[in-house]
Amino acid sequence: MRKLIFVASIAGFITFMISCHKSNIQAPAGTTTVDLPATTAKYYNSTTEGYNPGINDKATLGRVLFYDGHLSLNNAISCGSCHQQAMGFADGKRFSTGYEGRLTGRNSQSIANLKGTDTTFYSDFLAATNFPLFWDGRENIVKNLINRPITNHVEMGIDDPSVLPAKLASLSFYPPLFQKAYGDPNITTDRISECVAAFIVSIQAHNTKFDRYKAGDVTALNALETQGLNLFTTKYNCDNCHRVLTSNYYSSGFVDIGLDESYADKGNGNVTGNSYDYGKFGIPSLRNVALTGPYMHDGRFKTLNDVLEHYSHNIQNSPNLDILLKDGNDKARAMNISDQEKQALIAFLNTLTDYTMITDPKFSNPFKTK
Ligand code: HEC
Ligand code: HEC
Repeated sequence: MRKLIFVASIAGFITFMISCHKSNIQAPAGTTTVDLPATTAKYYNSTTEGYNPGINDKATLGRVLFYDGHLSLNNAISCGSCHQQAMGFADGKRFSTGYEGRLTGRNSQSIANLKGTDTTFYSDFLAATNFPLFWDGRENIVKNLINRPITNHVEMGIDDPSVLPAKLASLSFYPPLFQKAYGDPNITTDRISECVAAFIVSIQAHNTKFDRYKAGDVTALNALETQGLNLFTTKYNCDNCHRVLTSNYYSSGFVDIGLDESYADKGNGNVTGNSYDYGKFGIPSLRNVALTGPYMHDGRFKTLNDVLEHYSHNIQNSPNLDILLKDGNDKARAMNISDQEKQALIAFLNTLTDYTMITDPKFSNPFKTK
């Protein structure tokens, strides 16, 4: 009998291990192969290639690094764990699970359309830009950002990123990839950052119904979607902040939209130290917003309808509430968005989804379990 229980528990343990293994997008070292196309995928055009030779090979290598759990201390968490292609590179969770099951303090952000377009890539990615990163704007150079999740004890747990080159050099697929991108197989932390940055900046979402409409095809939006666009840009002034009309990516501002009367998270105020920045967060891009829920810096709203409920009649009189969200008496504005208008706004927000981006093989996980 005892023996039977022992065997059963061993079997249970093995099943448990296998199911853990399956739910993990990375398999441990030795059980995976990297499945890359024979010809280098085109992440950038020839202008960018002219500025930054090898940029397409760098992005190809960046793709492997992005999805590789070896960038974390326990080999289990990759960038792709919390930034998943099918979910517009967010992860569908209120808070994300990182190293040893620890939860992040904020909601994972979509990383598509991080910086401008192909042609502005070179300056955007190496230099400081006007488009601060993270919900609170604590970083503004994409390349410098890469070490932050790697060294973050909640996300990937590697205290000292200088251990990474030797760790990656021991994996057979890396030296040839570095050789191809740089002309020699040397692995450095700087190269790791450059390649991951080259990959993530290439993730752009421009193939949407709304882009076709903007390019002159007025039939791309139906009547309900067009009504939603008009409500978004005129009646409710959403576009004063979110700027889908004039910009493909983030607006540079930080604002307080009155989620709570007092602040649990000081947001940009933590970065600047000024009390007038407390509770202000970066204005998110609404590209692919239909896929990137739950919403807000703390993922408090599950659906777009919940978001609209907030703007409709739940804006709080918080200390730094933005002027656009106040009425004539300096109080929180109640937009009183009707149900029909909510439907139209949601229909419009759905036209910002790029379905090719979320299935494009060049952005997908290249690791295949043997
Ligand atoms: C454990 C989950 C997790 C992992 C792993 C992770 N991220 Fe993130 N990422 C987040 C969260 C949460 C945020 C928002 C953090 C904040 O604003 O405080 C974020 C924000 C970002 C942003 C900012 C986007 C913007 O619009 O400003 C970028 C870029 C990014 N991550 C890239 C990466 C890269 C590259 C890696 C791998 C080296 C990575 N992330 C690993 C959860 C994760
Ligand atoms: C004053 C500027 C401002 C205005 C006006 C505004 N927003 Fe926002 N919006 C923001 C900011 C900032 C956030 C993020 C707030 C946070 O997480 O704390 C946000 C978040 C969102 C989100 C969630 C996005 C995500 O990825 O989590 C959606 C959807 C949204 N807004 C839609 C709208 C709509 C629709 C309107 C008009 C009815 C509107 N916004 C008006 C600034 C604004």
